Amino acid sequence: MDDFKALVVDKKDEKMSMEVKHIGLSDLSEGEVTISVAYSSVNYKDGMVAVKGDLAETLPLVPGIDLAGTVIASEDDRFQEGDPVIATSYFIGTRHTGGFSEVARIPSEWVVPLPDGLTFEESMKLGTAGFTAALAIQRLEENELTPGSGKILVDGASGGVGSLAINMLYDRDYDVVASTGRTEEASYLKSLGASKVIHRDQVTDFRGKATRTRQWAAAIDPVGGKTLQYILSSLDYGGSVATCGLAGGIEVETTVLPFISRGINWLGIDSVKYPMEKRIKVWQRLADDMKPSALETDISHEISLDELPDTLHSILQGEIRGRIIVKM
Ligand SMILES: NC(=O)c1ccc[n+]([C@@H]2O[C@H](COP(=O)([O-])OP(=O)(O)OC[C@H]3O[C@@H](n4cnc5c(N)ncnc54)[C@H](OP(=O)(O)O)[C@@H]3O)[C@@H](O)[C@H]2O)c1
Repeated sequence: MDDFKALVVDKKDEKMSMEVKHIGLSDLSEGEVTISVAYSSVNYKDGMVAVKGDLAETLPLVPGIDLAGTVIASEDDRFQEGDPVIATSYFIGTRHTGGFSEVARIPSEWVVPLPDGLTFEESMKLGTAGFTAALAIQRLEENELTPGSGKILVDGASGGVGSLAINMLYDRDYDVVASTGRTEEASYLKSLGASKVIHRDQVTDFRGKATRTRQWAAAIDPVGGKTLQYILSSLDYGGSVATCGLAGGIEVETTVLPFISRGINWLGIDSVKYPMEKRIKVWQRLADDMKPSALETDISHEISLDELPDTLHSILQGEIRGRIIVKM
């Protein structure tokens, strides 16, 4: 198979370019497992790589941090031709050619067998966003969160991590408040399970207050910046925030006060280098007890490789609702 389609990003005269091209195996990074890609998905990080060149460690590059498909060749006995697999994160789509391609070649230590109970399509509706939402919920529950603890705030609610986190929490009987800059998406967010939808300005720290009224047993935060500042100042006693992202900024000003007077927990979530042994277990949970009910609904929509350039621009503008999967 030496002629297949892929999205290739490059930089010429300081300007990023994106083009769907015919390429061959020699254009792919080295790896033991060659995969016929069935689906990929679009994450915020893909926008940063493809549109801005941020996080792209080499160019030209086939981006796409997520992929699912069938093994067509393997130099590692753990994988055989015909095996269904998933590969997400590590250096896929940043340093190593990634999932926006009909064929991918991936180091075997980054490849996860597709768990029983998930189709290729479902695994990419989840993708890194769903994996990250699951990690965040797992981490909060390890920190004693239960459905009886109180309200959970999910911000960046209309995005991929946010939408999936809301629905996964709802399915686990949590009371979820969704914050969004797009209140016109309120009925969508309620359909995922949010009991209340608020505007993001209501959870943005415009005044630099160290503590304010205690409101949340926990929060899942893909936004960061002043939203995270607000959350740290408004968590309930012993509450936890799972920090996942930076869509609203990376700088956070806080003080020790909520930590020493309320015993709050600030938990970091990293999907990229999450160890393989534990990664396989999280994917199995996503097929079993954490599979979001909304995978059956309109939480995602499907595009082709040719539609990727526009979509990659849109995700950086905060214009994508839920998840986008790419059918090869
Ligand atoms: N830690 C990890 O391992 C990990 C894994 C996956 C993703 N992430 C990070 O998590 C974040 C979300 O990823 P995603 O794939 O879910 O992206 P996404 O689908 O684009 O969702 C991000 C959401 O954040 C909100 N938002 C966007 N710009 C904002 C701004 N300037 N201020 C406040 N809110 C803003 C928007 O939601 P509303 O319109 O509803 O407000 C947007 O839909 C990204 O920063 C990504 O890099 C990290």
